[in-house]
Amino acid sequence: MKIKITVFSFLIVAFLITVSCHKKPTIHDNENYSGGPILPDEPYDYPRTGNDHAATLGRVLFYDKNLSLNNTIACAGCHQQSKAFCDNQQFSTGLQDKVTGRNSPGIFARDGKVFWDGRANNMFDLVLRPIKNHVEMKFENIDALTQKISQIGYYKELFEKAYGTDAIDSNKIKNAMGNFLMNFTFSNNKFNTGKINSFQNFTASETLGKEIFFGKGKCSQCHKVNDDGTGTGTGYGSTVQTFSFNIGLEHVYKDKGIGEITKDEYDYGKFIIPVLLNVEYTAPYMHDGRFKTLEEVVEHYNSQLKNHANLDFRLRDLGALNNATETEVLNQLDVNKNGKVDPPEMAAYPPAQLGLTVGEKKALVDFLKTLSDPTIFTEKKFSDPFNPY
Ligand code: HEC
Ligand code: HEC
Repeated sequence: MKIKITVFSFLIVAFLITVSCHKKPTIHDNENYSGGPILPDEPYDYPRTGNDHAATLGRVLFYDKNLSLNNTIACAGCHQQSKAFCDNQQFSTGLQDKVTGRNSPGIFARDGKVFWDGRANNMFDLVLRPIKNHVEMKFENIDALTQKISQIGYYKELFEKAYGTDAIDSNKIKNAMGNFLMNFTFSNNKFNTGKINSFQNFTASETLGKEIFFGKGKCSQCHKVNDDGTGTGTGYGSTVQTFSFNIGLEHVYKDKGIGEITKDEYDYGKFIIPVLLNVEYTAPYMHDGRFKTLEEVVEHYNSQLKNHANLDFRLRDLGALNNATETEVLNQLDVNKNGKVDPPEMAAYPPAQLGLTVGEKKALVDFLKTLSDPTIFTEKKFSDPFNPY
């Protein structure tokens, strides 16, 4: 009898130990915090940044509606995974039904300036801006935000794992979200496969489109496709002036883009070159979402360019210089030798007319679609940890 009791109590103790170990609060144990995120025991690999725990924290913040003043919208509200991290709207609706002034682009890791007007120096610098923005998330007082986050149970452990301390401040929020955003690369596409096998995987139409993109269309002169396939257009250097362009959407721009910031007339209507990766999925297009389809975009470049004083020389009919290299053109047109072509130096050249055939226009669109990576919709490490699928 005595032995039986001992065995029995041993079993109870063992049971209690097991249960209590099991019940130790962990962030992946959703029941401890109502509405908390569900995360893997080991963090996913975020290879472009060194701190997987910080990127994981960034992922949680990205999807957390608590980052908006009235808990109604997360970053992911306008940057939805099911829509390739944009929202397929011309303009986005933020807090209190206010509408943004520009089209929300998809998210891609860029090493240089971000936003349509390049006002953020990099992905890290960007983070607090939408949070503070009165249309987007309206948390104008960042101290109040850090206080709010400090009181949400699941963040303690997340910050501790990422930074070795649970002290929460805005620099860590920036760093964590930056760690997450810098991993948005999504370039496992037909074009990059093609680069390895001499484009044997391309259809005749895609091949023709590629020739136009890198040839007479001059698309690649601005939309640089980097060796890693990111095509960020940052090949121009790190200043806004060197990788933003006016592409003749208007005679008079309502939204002056970079010019709104610099107040320099020569910058009116200039916008940062957008990333073309996954562009198939991110309609509508341009800073103001004016074009609903890629066909409309191609038609713009083909025949609709407006003769704005700042329309870039690459989109002008340069006559005898049309087939010259970029450097040759620059040498000829840059009369005052300041390293760029100023509006007066190109005023004599009208907007280009590419004169593409129906087949060539389709080919260009087909080529743009070779930049699509459908894993963007399913990659778990970028998915919503509050509503895992
Ligand atoms: C209400 C909708 C909305 C919310 C919420 C929102 N964004 Fe955006 N996002 C936009 C719009 C619109 C733009 C373009 C603004 C511009 O360039 O002037 C943008 C631009 C961006 C870009 C720049 C992409 C590029 O390549 O230039 C990134 C990155 C980004 N947002 C991340 C975030 C993050 C991180 C959050 C949360 C902290 C967030 N966004 C919240 C609408 C939103
Ligand atoms: C002079 C530089 C330049 C050239 C040449 C150029 N682009 Fe662009 N492209 C831009 C800029 C800058 C924008 C954004 C403009 C804006 O929103 O006002 C843009 C926007 C786009 C967009 C919309 C992307 C989005 O996410 O909204 C597509 C698609 C595009 N270009 C494709 C092309 C193709 C195809 C060609 C060749 C026929 C081409 N571009 C030639 C600079 C250029």
